[in-house]
Parts: sequence; C-alpha cells; structure tokens
Amino acid sequence: MGPEFVIRPAVENDLPGISTILTHYALKTVLTFATAGPTDEALRKKFRNIIQENQFPYFVATTRSSSQTYNNTDQVIGITYISPWLPERSAYKHTGEMTLFVHHEHQGKGIGTQLMSALLKAIPRTRIRELLAVMAVDDKGRGAGLGLRDYYVHWGFREVGRMERVGFKFERWIDVIFLQLHVNNDTH
Ligand SMILES: CC(C)(COP(=O)(O)OP(=O)(O)OC[C@H]1O[C@@H](n2cnc3c(N)ncnc32)[C@H](O)[C@@H]1OP(=O)(O)O)[C@@H](O)C(=O)NCCC(=O)NCCS
Repeated sequence: MGPEFVIRPAVENDLPGISTILTHYALKTVLTFATAGPTDEALRKKFRNIIQENQFPYFVATTRSSSQTYNNTDQVIGITYISPWLPERSAYKHTGEMTLFVHHEHQGKGIGTQLMSALLKAIPRTRIRELLAVMAVDDKGRGAGLGLRDYYVHWGFREVGRMERVGFKFERWIDVIFLQLHVNNDTH
C-alpha cells in the first residue's frame, strides 16, 4: 500500500487548512516566533505573492483523495513553500527562505520527506540559487533542538550562523540557526 497522503501544489482553497497548521505551531510551540496564527488576509496575500509574483513553489500534503488536484474533502496535513528573502532589498532576489510544517498529528509518516523532496525538485523552475532555512532551537525538542538542525543537514544544508537569545516565547529565550543550501541553479 502506498502512502496515505498526496503531495500537490497548493491552491487558495487550501488556505484554511494551512492556517490551522500554522496556528497550532504559533500557539503551542517555539518553532515559529509568530505568537498568533495568520489572518486570512495576510495568508492570502503571502500565498499570492509566492505563487503569482515570484513563481516560487508552494506545496501541500493532503489526506489521500482520488486526484492530484484540489478536492473539497482534502485535509491539509503538511505544507512547504519558499518565500523571497528580504524582498524589499532586491539584490537578494536569488535567495529564498523555506518553510516546512507537518500537522502535529501526522508527523513521522514520511510527509516531511516527501514535501522537502517536492520543494527541492521545483527549484530549477525558479530563479533561486541559495535556499535558507531559519530554525528556532527548541531546547525541549529532539536533541535539545539540534535534531532539527541535523534533519536539514541530512538534506545537504550547512549551518551558516546562529543568533543567540533573539526570541522570547513562553518565558524562554530562544536561539535561531541559519542553514543554507546552494541549489546549483546556474542558468538563472
Ligand atoms: C520536522 C518535520 C518537518 C519532519 O517531517 P515528518 O513528516 O515528521 O518527518 P518524516 O516522517 O518525513 O521523517 C524523516 C526523518 O526525519 C526525522 N525527523 C523528523 N522530525 C525530526 C525532528 N524534529 N528532528 C530531527 N529529526 C526529525 C525522522 O525521524 C525521520 O528519520 P528516519 O527516517 O531516520 O526515521 C515535522 O516533524 C514538523 O513539521 N515538525 C514540527 C515543525 C518544524 O520543526 N518545522 C521546521 C521548522 S524550521
């Protein structure tokens, strides 16, 4: 039996499901420095900016339905996308920042692996040459937070910097690690 989920490009109808995942991580974890879920307006604006203005990838994992396209019974159980890094400074235009979240009840089923793989495969269609992952070090997480760093290293990312105590959430000071992947997109 194949996996019980499908990976496909996100569509606007997925935004409520995407919001549910982002809201969970904002309210319950230090993995994002957002302390509230996104507003519908902000989420839609960012979605359109990524897909339409930048033509960057945005994928969702959904519970299996019969097709690779949107189906209104799909439940979004994972998301990944690339957003422009500091877009107001256009010399950064070949650098993107990735985001990856799997629904907390669906971790450890290979969804993160499939999302990451889809994201990396989509990069040659974009102008991105350097991909960043910016992660919070959750000292209560796997390997005191460094498990997640190792997860990115496994995909070829290199740790390129660490900012100490830049986040304060749930009465804890939190470090951030920058990871970088050169994606060999030399034609752009
Ligand atoms: C990290 C995350 C994306 C991985 O996705 P997933 O679907 O749970 O992972 P997979 O089932 O594809 O597992 C792939 C491998 O990564 C490992 N892994 C999963 N989560 C990990 C974590 N937080 N730290 C270290 N390793 C992790 C798994 O053990 C597995 O390794 P194995 O094959 O040797 O057993 C997901 O757990 C998640 O969304 N976590 C919370 C949010 C988060 O940390 N996002 C990144 C913010 S920068």
